[in-house]
Amino acid sequence: MDLSSYYHLIFTLLAVLVSGVIFFFSRKAGGKGLNLPPGPPGWPIVGNLFQVARSGKSFFMYVEDLRPKYGPIFTLRMGTRTLIILADAKLIHEALIERGALFMTRPRENPTRAVFSCYKFTVNAALYGPVWRSLRRNMVQNMLSSSRLKEFKGIRDDAMDKLIDRIRAEAMANGGVVWVLKSARFATFCILLAMCFGLEMDEETIGGMDDMMKTVLITLDPRIDDYLPALSMFFSKERRRAQEVRQAQLDFVIPFIEKRRKALENPGSDKSATSFSYLDTLFDLKVEGRKSGPTNAELVTLCSEFLNGGTDTTATAIEWGIAQLIANPHVQSKLYEEIRSTVGDRKVDEKDVDKMVYLNAVVKELLRKHPPTYFSLTHAVTEPTKLAGYDIPTDANVEIYLPAVGEDPKLWKNPEKFDPDRYISGNEDADITGVKGVKMLPFGVGRRICPGLAMATCHVNLMLARMVQEFEWTAYPPESKIDFTGKLEFTVVMKNALRATIKPRA
Ligand code: HEM
Repeated sequence: MDLSSYYHLIFTLLAVLVSGVIFFFSRKAGGKGLNLPPGPPGWPIVGNLFQVARSGKSFFMYVEDLRPKYGPIFTLRMGTRTLIILADAKLIHEALIERGALFMTRPRENPTRAVFSCYKFTVNAALYGPVWRSLRRNMVQNMLSSSRLKEFKGIRDDAMDKLIDRIRAEAMANGGVVWVLKSARFATFCILLAMCFGLEMDEETIGGMDDMMKTVLITLDPRIDDYLPALSMFFSKERRRAQEVRQAQLDFVIPFIEKRRKALENPGSDKSATSFSYLDTLFDLKVEGRKSGPTNAELVTLCSEFLNGGTDTTATAIEWGIAQLIANPHVQSKLYEEIRSTVGDRKVDEKDVDKMVYLNAVVKELLRKHPPTYFSLTHAVTEPTKLAGYDIPTDANVEIYLPAVGEDPKLWKNPEKFDPDRYISGNEDADITGVKGVKMLPFGVGRRICPGLAMATCHVNLMLARMVQEFEWTAYPPESKIDFTGKLEFTVVMKNALRATIKPRA
C-alpha cells in the first residue's frame, strides 16, 4: 500500500474543498456511537489518509511506528474506509481461529479491483458464501492437495534444472555475480504457468505473460479515490487506463484458454499439452447457486489469481533466504552438510526434503523473520461484533499485521536473530497453521489460510536446497554487509535487490 508517490499537496487542498460535500452526505451513513479501537487523531472526512500519504513511508512502516503508542489493536481512518489493525498473537488467534466464522469474509471492493476480480469471482476476494466455497474447494482438492501436488513433480524438476542453468549462465556472463529475485521469480512463474494452462510456452510468451500480470498488479495499486470516492471525477483517465489494461489482459490470455480447450477436445492434437491443468478443473466447474460455468473473462481472472498468488510471494522468500544464508555462513555450511549427507552426489529431489530437518528449520525461520507479505489479505466480519472490548463494524477492513507476531519478544527468544537452530534444540517451535496457538503466520491462519501453503513451502525448500547444493553464496560486493531493509512492491522485497557472488561447489 505505497501511497506516497500519489500524493501532492494539491490533493490536500482538493480534499478540503470537496470534503464539505462528502461531509454532508457521509454524516447520514457515518458510524456514530461506535466504540472503535484507539488511533491517531485525523482530519474531518479524510481521517488519517494524508498523514499516511505525506509521511513518505510505506504503509507497513507507518503502522510499525504507531504500535508502541496504540498497542495490539488500533484504528486508522483512510477517507471513507476504516482500517482496524490487529497486531497481537492472542487477538489474532481469537479473531481468526476461535471466532473464525465471524471474521472470514472480505470487505467491499474498490471499482478497479471489482473489474479485475470479475466482481469478486476469485478465491481470495470472494465474500464468505457459496462462490468462495466452490472456488476454494476446487483449487484445494484439484490442484493443491498433497496427492495432486505429486502429479506436478515433473514440472518442478524441469523448472529446478532450468533455474540452476540460468543462474550458472548469468554468473558466467557476469564474473560470478547474479541477481537472486529475478531467477527465483522466473522459476516459480514457469511452474505455476505450466500447472495453470497445461501448455508449453516459449521464453518470449512466458515473458509476455509475466509483463501482463505485472501491469495488472500496478494498475491495482490503491488510488486516492478508492478512499475518497467523491474525488473519482478527477480520475477518469486512470479509470479508462484500467479498462484498457483489463482488455489487453483478456486479449492476451483468452487465446491460451482456447488452445487448451481445443487440446482437450482433440486429445493428441497438441503434443506439448500436459495431462492435467488448473484450467481443466475450471472448464467443468459447478459453482453453487449458478447455472453456467465460468465465462472466459472469469477464467482469465481465476488463472491470474493462481499465477499472482504464488509467484512474487515465493520468489520474495527465496531472496530473503539467500540473503540470510550469506549473512550467516555457518547456517549455509550446516545446510550444505545436511544436503551432502542426505543425498551424496546426486541432485536433491523433493522426496529428500522431508528428511532434511535443518532445511525445514531454515525455511521456517526465514518465513518467521521475513513473511513475504506484512499484512494478510484484508478480512471483514460477517456481522457487527466486538474484539478486545471494541466495536468491529461490518464495513471495517480488518488488517492482520504479521511481523508483530513473528517478532514478538513475548513469544520468541531473541526474535531479531536469524536462528534456525531454535527449532532443532527443541526449545522453541511454532505451528505454522496457528491452530495450536499463533506464533507466526506467514500464510495467515484460520479458514482463509493460504491454500497454497504446502506447494509454496515445497517450492521454497526445493529451490533453496538446489541453489545451495550447486553454489556457494557470498556477498556482492565481496565482504560487504547485507542491508536487510525491506520495501513494499506487492510483497515486501529487499530494498536493495539482492546481488550475490556465487562459486560452483567442487
Ligand atoms: C511463500 C508463498 C506464499 C505466501 C507467503 C502466501 C501468503 C498468503 C497469505 C498471507 C494469504 C492471506 C490469508 C488470509 O486472508 O488471512 C494468502 C491467501 C491466498 N493465497 Fe497464498 N501465499 C503463498 C503462496 C501461494 C500459492 C503458491 C498459491 C496458489 C497458487 C496461493 C494462493 C492463495 C489464495 C488463493 C489465497 C486466498 C485464500 C482465501 O481467501 O480463501 N498462495 N496467501
